Amino acid sequence: MNRKEATTEHAALAAEIAAHDIAYHQADAPTISDGAYDDLRKRILALEAEFPELAQSSISNKVGAAPSSKFTKVQHVVPMLSLSNAFADEDVHEFLGRVRRFLNLSADAPVAVTAEPKIDGLSMSLRYENRKLVQAATRGDGAEGENVTANVMTVKNIPQTLPSQAPDVIEVRGEIYMSNNDFAALNEKQIQDGEKVFANPRNAAAGSLRQLDSAITASRPLKFFAYAWGDAPELPSDTQFGVVQAFKAWGLPVNPLMVLCHSADELLAHYRKIEAQRATLGYDIDGVVYKVNDLALQQRLGFVSRSPRWAIAHKFSAEQATTILEAIDIQVGRTGALTPVARLKPVTVGGVVVSNATLHNEDEITRKDVRIGDTVIIQRAGDVIPQIVGVATRGANTVPYEFPKVCPFCGSHATREEKTSGKADAIRRCTGGLICPAQRVERLKHFSSRNAFDIEGLGDKIVEEFYADGLIAAPQDIFTLEKRDARSLKKLRDREGWGESSVANLFAAIEARRKIALDRFIFALGIRHVGETTARVLARTYGSAEHLREQMKIAAASEINDTRGELNAIDGIGDVVAEAVIQFFDEPHNVDIFDALLREVEPQALAAVASSSPVSGKTVVFTGALERMTREEAKAMAERLGAKVAGSVSKKTDLLVAGPGAGSKLKDAEKYGVEVIDENAWFVLVGA
Ligand code: IVH
Repeated sequence: MNRKEATTEHAALAAEIAAHDIAYHQADAPTISDGAYDDLRKRILALEAEFPELAQSSISNKVGAAPSSKFTKVQHVVPMLSLSNAFADEDVHEFLGRVRRFLNLSADAPVAVTAEPKIDGLSMSLRYENRKLVQAATRGDGAEGENVTANVMTVKNIPQTLPSQAPDVIEVRGEIYMSNNDFAALNEKQIQDGEKVFANPRNAAAGSLRQLDSAITASRPLKFFAYAWGDAPELPSDTQFGVVQAFKAWGLPVNPLMVLCHSADELLAHYRKIEAQRATLGYDIDGVVYKVNDLALQQRLGFVSRSPRWAIAHKFSAEQATTILEAIDIQVGRTGALTPVARLKPVTVGGVVVSNATLHNEDEITRKDVRIGDTVIIQRAGDVIPQIVGVATRGANTVPYEFPKVCPFCGSHATREEKTSGKADAIRRCTGGLICPAQRVERLKHFSSRNAFDIEGLGDKIVEEFYADGLIAAPQDIFTLEKRDARSLKKLRDREGWGESSVANLFAAIEARRKIALDRFIFALGIRHVGETTARVLARTYGSAEHLREQMKIAAASEINDTRGELNAIDGIGDVVAEAVIQFFDEPHNVDIFDALLREVEPQALAAVASSSPVSGKTVVFTGALERMTREEAKAMAERLGAKVAGSVSKKTDLLVAGPGAGSKLKDAEKYGVEVIDENAWFVLVGA
């Protein structure tokens, strides 16, 4: 696979994952099975492993979805992150291998690792101050969660106070869940009361916790397991196992199946033991979590984007069922990708009714020869859009599925770009660009979405309606809506489902976004391959929207010049991303929209990075052999301290850390007058 293919697939996966995240975290209504979701994540991580620049723009840096607005927000002092997944035994060996390599340990050095069930509930952070429970918050997007203190106070096995040996401040983290029996009883009652039935215990737990009336939460049988911590100035032990034992001694519920292992084989043995007990535990688990026991090693290992290097979730395999494939619908995304979606005769898989599944792309359908009318095998693990594994039995009088060659929305040719390898791209794309209503409307949805302009009241459905009625055709139209409405005879307030106050709210929400952070502005443009992280990098690098546009125009004007080189030299901007950004600004349509938008909104430059560390905001390059840390560890450390780590030396570089054997980078540093220090001086500089 070449970079272009990888990039295309990466973008499609990212979009899919983002949609699932919102369904799962905000609506408590997952649209895909956990197994299928994990497969998507696994695939995106595999792509990023091979093409690291993709990781920069990636969704895989994100956890969950931003909190909904029912509850007040809580900023997590320590972010609540997620775990990367292992599926096969080799992945577990690989995990331990990675840990050892990162720490510079020999391949057979013993590393103590804990193993415990992965509870299928929702994560919760409990803050105790002076041994009293003062705050409970959900994970939210990892940085900011919802304040659900009043509700959590009603959970019976969560202590409201901790004993005297507990420290003054500690955030205990763990999982809120509902047992299988309690879940069944609750659903029974819901049916009797004519209320909504929950799809699974996890959703029941989430729904119960999200009640505005804590009396309702109190009536729901929620439980808690403590397995981690957030803000914790003083810890009771220097190992993972020790801290959890202390939690237990303080009266916090901990899972009895946690053990300490010393090799991959021991971990795998415990995995199988837990898997064998899975059905009789009485609560849902979806895997086994492994964590490096020594907290000092955890500290050194640190994090990579959304998850710690020191832990991994080894997931159980998926559940399968068969059903009839009734239709294949084609959706067209923001970048024109045609995505096939399987419509299924509803079937229950592991307790959840499934009626849609992903078919990935054209080749996948051909490879599996999936036909409408076939009985297909579908697969989901844990929760929610499952995947079609293959055909179980061929339906009568079926014909091979013919993938559309024109866009079902605008009739433009839908083509598969030829890749440099000469092979066709996996994704067929509508060539209609901005004449394609599906692409336009998807771009508008993206523009208004939570991580972009985040315009409350202008969700996907409303965007679709407004687009269909000609009220909004391009992003800048959002900002002229009120003026036009004042002049129009057909007022928004007269629309079905609208009224004086909802219209006023919408206009207020739009007005509130006339000032917008530059990174959000850039992200909202929907430039291919530019995710939030890349948008932030661009915002920091160029400082203003005007400057970005100017520089990109210059870059487009010549093949190889300093500006293009500069864009490439920014860590996190690979060739594909650089090309996509330049191309975007080379398209007059886009520049028109960009300029029209700038007449309506004022993007705000990002605040400087907190300058508490001597290297924060600096661009650092490491070269030569490092002896006290691995290259990966060095990079992680510098980033933790707020530095940007670049792969090559340019005139923008602030510092070169050179070990023995440094070559051309050292010469470049001399050429540009960049400060050069050795590894020991680096440790002195950063005070580590
Ligand atoms: S440790 C830094 N341990 O799984 C990450 N997580 O996919 C610390 N989960 O967000 C998490 N059981 O909600 C950990 N025994 C366990 C867990 C567990 C369930 C959840 C948790 C986390 C998610 C990650």
